[in-house]
Amino acid sequence: MTEPIFPVELKDQVALVTGASRGIGREVALQLARCGAAVACVARNQELLNQLVEQIQQEGGQAHAWTVDVTNTEQVNQVVDEVVQRWQRLDILVNNAGITRDTLIPRMQDQQWDEVIATNLRGTFLFTRAATRPMMQRRYGRIINISSVSGLRGNKGQSNYSASKAGVIGFTRSVAMELAGRNITVNAVAPGFIETDMTAALGPTFKDEVKKRVPARRLGQVEDVAACVLFLASPAASYITGQVLAVDGGMSVGI
Ligand SMILES: NC(=O)c1ccc[n+]([C@@H]2O[C@H](COP(=O)([O-])OP(=O)(O)OC[C@H]3O[C@@H](n4cnc5c(N)ncnc54)[C@H](OP(=O)(O)O)[C@@H]3O)[C@@H](O)[C@H]2O)c1
Repeated sequence: MTEPIFPVELKDQVALVTGASRGIGREVALQLARCGAAVACVARNQELLNQLVEQIQQEGGQAHAWTVDVTNTEQVNQVVDEVVQRWQRLDILVNNAGITRDTLIPRMQDQQWDEVIATNLRGTFLFTRAATRPMMQRRYGRIINISSVSGLRGNKGQSNYSASKAGVIGFTRSVAMELAGRNITVNAVAPGFIETDMTAALGPTFKDEVKKRVPARRLGQVEDVAACVLFLASPAASYITGQVLAVDGGMSVGI
């Protein structure tokens, strides 16, 4: 078995990762499996999910793919039921699926607003609600919501995205209060600028400009985010709940 990026023991635990077909979610799923968890890999692209499951199995880990649209209530409830039927429990939920539809406010179409809120915020709500039931039954859970630095501060051209990610933070804090007594922690991770498909289209000049705004003077990698998720998913993080951990090379504290 390949060593995980951060040493966390998750043997016999079951994790579900949304948006596992690419980018941050893919890396998080891979790393959770390397820690010993059985991983439910959720996204819409079946082929990419199958490739991930194959890689995890080749490394000696356990995983299964579910093709799901995170905005669809029936599909979300069904996948959580199937995960529990298959592995008898659900310990870790990573709400990572997310999209951008960037444009300045005078030009923003209803659809651009609605799609971003539906995927980033409603998707997080639907999966959290569904996962809470099996977690409450076993009185254990780790819910990790992927927010963004754009949810901590504003970003021109991202009012829809920023609102969705700030919403994820408010949601995280409230649900953390509701579930703390059941030994379920709920935290958010706020990545800065991470190199994935989501940021690939922005071009080299823009990336050089971004680097100037990052105290660490480099763009983030998917492993930087995955390491933080592993820590929050671990039994060691049991007294941390309702928090937002920025993984941004210092971007949110100033330059
Ligand atoms: N990259 C960054 O710089 C950055 C910074 C801050 C926060 N984030 C956040 O981190 C998360 C992952 O970002 P990323 O950069 O890895 O993005 P990405 O490479 O574009 O991947 C997005 C993932 O979300 C899935 N997804 C999108 N809509 C979905 C839907 N309706 N149902 C199911 N799955 C859906 C995609 O899978 P399918 O297309 O297969 O469905 C894909 O696996 C997002 O929440 C993003 O907002 C990223």
